[in-house]
Amino acid sequence: MDKHPLLGGSAARRLVGLSRVDDDPYATGVCTYWHLSTPPPELTSTISDGWLRPPGRVLDIGCGLGIEAATLTQAGFRAVGVDLSSVALARASATHPEVSFVEADVRSLPFADGDFDVLLDRGCFHYLEPADRSRYATESFRVLRPGGRFLLRACLRAAGVRNDIGMDTLLSVFADWDVISAREEDVPSDTRDLRALVARLQRPASISPAP
Ligand SMILES: C[S@@+](CC[C@H](N)C(=O)[O-])C[C@H]1O[C@@H](n2cnc3c(N)ncnc32)[C@H](O)[C@@H]1O
Repeated sequence: MDKHPLLGGSAARRLVGLSRVDDDPYATGVCTYWHLSTPPPELTSTISDGWLRPPGRVLDIGCGLGIEAATLTQAGFRAVGVDLSSVALARASATHPEVSFVEADVRSLPFADGDFDVLLDRGCFHYLEPADRSRYATESFRVLRPGGRFLLRACLRAAGVRNDIGMDTLLSVFADWDVISAREEDVPSDTRDLRALVARLQRPASISPAP
């Protein structure tokens, strides 16, 4: 989830502008930095504590190999994973045929307004350039139904160096959302612990009428 030192420079630019398979972290193996082969604990706890309750339609933003989408499918949701990486999506589809995978950019999602009940993001948001963050928030808000829930995990370090993501970023980028909880914690990958901001967000059920 952190930018890997091997990526060098701005991993965000390289991921967002992904055009060649040999740049793709799922082709080069760089994905071992963040990939977790088992359901992430901060995701499974949203189900065990009842914050996410099936049934419903889930969108996994920047889904990578589709573990989270598959986990929620198993829990009784219908899941769609979206990612820029064709290499990741090919592997995800082969491993999890029960999930739909779509190659698209989170900044312009090919889904209708209110199409989803739940959104997940483990590690995509912090790869965006700061200028793209509000577009991300607008698109994710648009495709989530009013009252829908969003589990966001954004890493706090890039190539070992602290990035600018923190509570202030969250509150400003997601100003139109209800922040149900947000805290820094270590989220595990197969190879290390990654310090992240873990937030439960909710699209308000309705907009209060202007006085
Ligand atoms: C750190 S990886 C996390 C993958 C997966 N969520 C996981 O937990 O293993 C970030 C993912 O976001 C994807 N990504 C980055 N920018 C994106 C964008 N603008 N639109 C869609 N996916 C994007 C990358 O291709 C990559 O698969």
